[in-house]
Amino acid sequence: MTSDQIEARIDELLSAMTLEEKAGQMTQFFYFAEVDPESDVDVMGDLSSQPAMVERELAAGRVGSLLFCTQPSEINRLQRLTIEGNRHGIPALFGFDVIHGFRTIFPVPIATAASWDPDVAARGQAIAAKEARAVGIHWAFAPMVDVTCDPRWGRIIEGAGEDPCLGAAMAAAQVRGFQGDGIGSPDTLIAGPKHFAGYGFAVGGRDYDQSHISDEQLWNVVFPPFKAAVEAGAGNVMTAYMDLNGVPATGNVWLMQNVLRDTWGFEGFLVSDANAVRNLATHGLAKDLTDAGVRAVSAGVDLEMAVDDPAYAHLVDAVRSGVVSEEQIDTCVRRILRAKFQLGLFEEPYVDEQRAVEVLSDPTHREAARAAAVRTAVLLTNEPVDGQPLLPLSPEVKKVAVLGPLADAPRDTLGPWVFDFDLTETVTIAQGLRERGGDFGVEVEYAPGIRHGQRTFASMFDLWEGNAPVDPEGFDEEAEFARAVELAAGADVAVLVLGEWQNMIGEAASRSSLELPGRQLDLLDAVAATGTPVVVLLMNGRPLDVRPVMEKAPAILEVWYPGSQGGHAIAALVFGDESPAGRLPFTWPRSVGQIPMVYSHTISHEPENQWRRYWDVESTPLFAFGHGLSYSSFAYGDVNLSATSISVGESVTASVDVTNTGDRDADEVVQLYLHQRWGTASRPVRELKGFQRLFVPAGQTVTVEFPVGPEQLRYWNAAAHDWVIDPSLFDVGIGGDSTVELTVSFEVREG
Ligand code: NOJ
Repeated sequence: MTSDQIEARIDELLSAMTLEEKAGQMTQFFYFAEVDPESDVDVMGDLSSQPAMVERELAAGRVGSLLFCTQPSEINRLQRLTIEGNRHGIPALFGFDVIHGFRTIFPVPIATAASWDPDVAARGQAIAAKEARAVGIHWAFAPMVDVTCDPRWGRIIEGAGEDPCLGAAMAAAQVRGFQGDGIGSPDTLIAGPKHFAGYGFAVGGRDYDQSHISDEQLWNVVFPPFKAAVEAGAGNVMTAYMDLNGVPATGNVWLMQNVLRDTWGFEGFLVSDANAVRNLATHGLAKDLTDAGVRAVSAGVDLEMAVDDPAYAHLVDAVRSGVVSEEQIDTCVRRILRAKFQLGLFEEPYVDEQRAVEVLSDPTHREAARAAAVRTAVLLTNEPVDGQPLLPLSPEVKKVAVLGPLADAPRDTLGPWVFDFDLTETVTIAQGLRERGGDFGVEVEYAPGIRHGQRTFASMFDLWEGNAPVDPEGFDEEAEFARAVELAAGADVAVLVLGEWQNMIGEAASRSSLELPGRQLDLLDAVAATGTPVVVLLMNGRPLDVRPVMEKAPAILEVWYPGSQGGHAIAALVFGDESPAGRLPFTWPRSVGQIPMVYSHTISHEPENQWRRYWDVESTPLFAFGHGLSYSSFAYGDVNLSATSISVGESVTASVDVTNTGDRDADEVVQLYLHQRWGTASRPVRELKGFQRLFVPAGQTVTVEFPVGPEQLRYWNAAAHDWVIDPSLFDVGIGGDSTVELTVSFEVREG
């Protein structure tokens, strides 16, 4: 159908629909049929009657969209109920949290950002889209593009970290991956960047808490990934839960109308986060549910996501009493219907259940997940043992002890925010090392040593079977601890997997501490005391306080939650089939008290540490933003600029030669940083303005070029309340992390 035909069909429908039917289109329900009926986790009340309630509403034509259904047969059944339940045969839109894979699970989003390779993100989401679409899902609540500099916040794992430049690249790539050639093209989903906006600045890192973000930070740091996602064509945007500078995001007219629609020209539909419309009353913005619905509609929120009792059911009365107009309702319904037409749902509402089986078992998807996991790992440290860096393991290593419960925990290997995984085909680290080690005649033995770590308070995600870690029945921790230490003592190398269990990070999983939970450090101490060299693999999604780990382990490889094929990917890195080239997408603080800490801070009184910011800890991070080692080594030539003086509005090209000085082929992540010396505002000491992940064969040199023009030079000036380019001197540095020296400068003259 052409867009004119679609609009004509929508006109027809709108003129035939009652107000109740319109409010129904604007309502999206969870369908909580897949939670574990045996679960004794009590954080969401009794959900047992929720699915039946939803089915009644579907049959009565009061639902436009559903979420949390993943079985094709169920989706077809519910779709039939929907179509038969409304006079116009309007199909339902099925949304889902397709965050880092559907059946094939890719590394978690923060890991993907650590690849510094937007193609990894795009490929992963294209596969996730294909799998999810095959079961009947139409729309992903992703990418999550919230910038954050607070690792206490559990949802740091879902985004791309602290930087707007890296974040924007990852946001756009994911939208491209999900939507392919555009909404409605085969095997794709509508992308829904979220949570608009400012959720990553929740105070104290406490999930859902208020955010106070300056005008300068909003435009320069928080908004760029959203803007990039919108420019990449995202069909949907999801609102955020919290108050933004005193106005809840979901009822924030400035955010949704002025910024998103008027300034960026977003034409898709807006969905609230779950129950966020109702919450406008909880926030103390709206008087009651009717008022909450009116305010959300007035801000332009087209669809309300709800568990039950939606505020939008009250819109009928609100129109009748004149507080909201039917035109406003029609505008929302039009956007939702448009998405359904664009997806072709009126012609083909059902899915082919047989094809779904084939798509979900496609081996090329698993291979892509393995390749992605290889590209995301970050080598944090790699000290020599007997004159050789400990990683990759030397061919002399014949016996490896793999230790720690996370080493053989399939559910944790996948990370949070996945539901339709297949644990039987998930490759744990122990399994991956055993298989690859076997190829070299290396004996690999595993012992957990300690119990699984436990949260202090349960999470709503623990409602799903297998999400909360359980120790094997009769687990004798003292005996297991001794066995692990004994294995280490008898091995050439101990590989200890440390980190956080997957339910300790993600939504509703903020922490007040960055310490390794449980007895993991005790195990490390005992293992290190055997004298066997220790490689630590970190499985986590936030920077943890690894200072004690660095004292005991010469090598630390950040493996994140590496996904379905994680074990194979990690084994390839540990044994040296592949060289790690991931880089940190965040500044890694030394301790929780340093938070927030970002590399792109402004310079202030007594900058050079004569007056230390703290008396008890360095003012520097443990690892810099952009940090990551390689099994090879790289040398950078001088930075060349195509001009040393330009006018406002013009561009220069910065280029550099990068040489692989090691003896193995490897990737390097080349990063360009820029600093403005003076102007009409003080600007950060440096900001990332370009990057390229580059393959450089051993001994070879590659020249890398970056454009530096208005896009890189402009910034949002809070006093001017506008974008400006200041005439000034700009310093440029190109190197392998954010500590690179800024060695050359160019002038920008008044235009
Ligand atoms: C709440 C989360 O904040 C959001 O990210 C998610 O998409 C919805 N729930 C639906 O699961």
